[in-house]
Amino acid sequence: MIYIIVGTQWGDEGKAKVVDYLSKDFDFVVRYQGGANAGHTVWVKDQKIVFHLIPSGILRENVQAILGNGLVIELEELVKEIEFLSKFVNLKNRLWISNKAHIVMPYHKIMDRVKEQKSSNSIGTTLRGIGPCYVDKVDRTGIRMVDLFLPREELISRINKSYEVKKFLLKNYYNIEDLPSVDKIYDDLMEKANKIKEFITDTEKLLFEAHKKRMNILFEGAQGGLLDIDFGTYPYVTSSNTVSGGAITGSGIGFFDIANVIGITKAYITRVGEGPFPTEQKNEVGEYLRERGREYGATTGRPRRCGWFDLVATKYSVDVNGVKEIFLMKLDVLDGLDKIYVCTAYELPDGSLTHYFPASSSILNSVKPKYVVFDGWKESTFGKTSYKDLPGAAKRYIEFLETSLERKISYISTGYERDSVIVR
Ligand code: IMO
Ligand code: MG
Repeated sequence: MIYIIVGTQWGDEGKAKVVDYLSKDFDFVVRYQGGANAGHTVWVKDQKIVFHLIPSGILRENVQAILGNGLVIELEELVKEIEFLSKFVNLKNRLWISNKAHIVMPYHKIMDRVKEQKSSNSIGTTLRGIGPCYVDKVDRTGIRMVDLFLPREELISRINKSYEVKKFLLKNYYNIEDLPSVDKIYDDLMEKANKIKEFITDTEKLLFEAHKKRMNILFEGAQGGLLDIDFGTYPYVTSSNTVSGGAITGSGIGFFDIANVIGITKAYITRVGEGPFPTEQKNEVGEYLRERGREYGATTGRPRRCGWFDLVATKYSVDVNGVKEIFLMKLDVLDGLDKIYVCTAYELPDGSLTHYFPASSSILNSVKPKYVVFDGWKESTFGKTSYKDLPGAAKRYIEFLETSLERKISYISTGYERDSVIVR
């Protein structure tokens, strides 16, 4: 059984809670793209745990976790997570890192920062070096996990090759003076490498063997479909394929029988950083959602931009992700609102209507959302575990989303705790 969990909006849909909830039935949990830009929060009893790299499924003792080849991995963050998690769970023979995954080098983080500072059109990245690291991957000058086993001279020469052009740019274009030497970069890298080498392996082989034994594999997407490098709101996107297709290239699993793609969808919508956001509410509604939904970035602490459910954007994302069913998140955050709006179409500047998500961010910036308005509900849905106990207005809202998205909403989350879930 192979399942893929993907975010269908601009990230922060609550993927980690779903992975944590489902992982008890799985043998492997796999991340396949992105890096420490992700911030996946799980609550176990009263303990809040935030993951940036390691799949949250690792908290279940029976689960093995894989960081696939599609990731870009910052060693400092990885070592931090390994040391933190080792206090709760055993990681030996349970955590595996692809030898083909790329390493986020210190100069990638510097490039990310200076680009963001200099550009008048900044993306609002997480400053984790994600974009610059993927640039080197495609440019074939990246440093991969397997390279940590190279002889000193050879690795230094590889680092140099990648670093020298950036050093020139950083000095002469960005006016950055104090840059780390190659020797310092190498020494730091080795210090961290010695703590993770035991986890590095051919992870695609593990997956192939697991599949042959009919073991259960869960893929944990990071970010969301609207941040996908191809399908998202380019250029205000992340630098990887966040859609479910990324699970194949980012792990080496091949086109095996993928049993299910579960789309994680928040009952409203948020985004962090820059970029078009037609249903954004820069008003008391947005604040209501932000405060009740604790909408502050788990990676950067930035307040998230909040808005009404956008069916045009989400339907498109659900389609390009090949989503089969939906896990609706954070329904309880909407409790207490008088009216709830759902955007069902965009009005273009010439007055015409579109139901299809525009490819151009400039066009998306100029559209006016057309809304359908629902009555809210006053009762609390917090912690509810049975569909029949939901207020009628909440059911009407959910069933409208379900019909419009043309996907069954099979699960509804009603609180941050592991078990606050309605299974329909
Ligand atoms: P999870 O997995 C929300 C956003 C950044 C920025 C853009 C590019 O927690 O849902 P990057 O650092 O990736 O180059 O930034 O993508 N972004 C996210 N937004 N949730 C995330 O991850 C994100 N990861 C990146 O805010 O707009
Ligand atoms: Mg997050």
